[in-house]
Amino acid sequence: MPLRIYLIGAGVISRTHAKAISELNVGDDVELSVADTNTKALQDFSKEFPHARLFEDVPSMLEEPAQPDDIVVVATPPFTHFKLACAALHTKRHVLCEKPLAVSQEQAEEMLELARSQDRFIGCCSDRFIGTPATEKVKQLIQSDQLGNLYHVTFIHRGQRGRPGIEYQPNSKWFLNHQQSGGGVVMDWGPYDFATLNDLLSPVKIEVLSAWLETPETDLQLPENTVFDVETHAGAQLLYYLSNGSTVSVNYERSSCTHGSERSIAEIEGLKGAVNWDWQSWEGPGKVDYTFDKNGILESDQHIAKSETTIHAMDRPLIYFYWKTQGKPSPAIVNEQAVFNFSCIQAIYECVATGRPQTVDLNSFHKASF
Ligand SMILES: NC(=O)c1ccc[n+]([C@@H]2O[C@H](COP(=O)([O-])OP(=O)(O)OC[C@H]3O[C@@H](n4cnc5c(N)ncnc54)[C@H](O)[C@@H]3O)[C@@H](O)[C@H]2O)c1
Repeated sequence: MPLRIYLIGAGVISRTHAKAISELNVGDDVELSVADTNTKALQDFSKEFPHARLFEDVPSMLEEPAQPDDIVVVATPPFTHFKLACAALHTKRHVLCEKPLAVSQEQAEEMLELARSQDRFIGCCSDRFIGTPATEKVKQLIQSDQLGNLYHVTFIHRGQRGRPGIEYQPNSKWFLNHQQSGGGVVMDWGPYDFATLNDLLSPVKIEVLSAWLETPETDLQLPENTVFDVETHAGAQLLYYLSNGSTVSVNYERSSCTHGSERSIAEIEGLKGAVNWDWQSWEGPGKVDYTFDKNGILESDQHIAKSETTIHAMDRPLIYFYWKTQGKPSPAIVNEQAVFNFSCIQAIYECVATGRPQTVDLNSFHKASF
């Protein structure tokens, strides 16, 4: 049997998954199917990928009997992820879902329950920036104790104008509508941010101590009836509890619109050394800057981390997930870890909504039932 990939949604991101298939190293032995309720989207997709089987609805695409290696990719706006991912899991296929995994905590936990009961993986595409040479180098510095006991992380990425639905991909107005997107910049970028932080720090528990969400005002002429009710600037103070018993203070900030300055920093500080690095490497290589004390003098070790096999960020989710389904070593984010990472994002929203600190415990997702 060929490897069968089923894409739900034929929009912007779906095409990147279709392109990634050629990087799976399975030759031509792949059957690609795609379903979209929008005929024009299907037709446009078909021009680029003429070999794909086209379906106007998801049930018709998934009605054929499942094979053990089948992969369904949910590549539609967030408010549809839950229903579509569950429908695909019910057919007993592995499901790779676009980020954010869902739009509510309940949905994410139900997806995990269903994946478990079907003995399939539910994965999230939030792993686009993990497993890169630079981030792996940082992991090695942490694991070899070259940073010592970790105590502080700064993860700040402030863009002045990069709002999806406005400056970026202006035709996809769903990004601006809370009901459809689940939230703004935290839902859009948080999945990548917390995938990276959690991959490196492996927290067993996190606390969101305080958080804020804002939407700086700009002069806009959006089409009539456009709903724009999501945050474009956010921040949170978190506490990460590590498996060795230590706690790390995490200063998190993200913006797609601020009147303040643009800046970007990913830095981890420990008692023996600190590292900042290009965590958001699209092509593969990235700079790693390690500073430490040697005989009372501040030393700096800067280098470009590279690997012989370069995987582009947009190809990583499908490739990593495919490896996972094949039982190979993979940094894919699936099942409990996918729901834990999503819960960290939800905890930021919950902290703002309730005005109270929020706790997320990885162990709670490992229980047989919630
Ligand atoms: N655009 C990006 O750069 C980007 C990057 C990474 C992740 N993502 C994520 O990918 C997902 C999709 O984003 P996009 O930019 O491709 O959106 P898009 O607006 O370009 O396309 C979404 C497609 O889904 C289809 N669709 C909606 N409901 C459907 C349903 N019930 N059944 C079948 N098809 C349906 C729409 O008709 C549309 O063609 C989102 O979760 C987003 O966060 C997007």
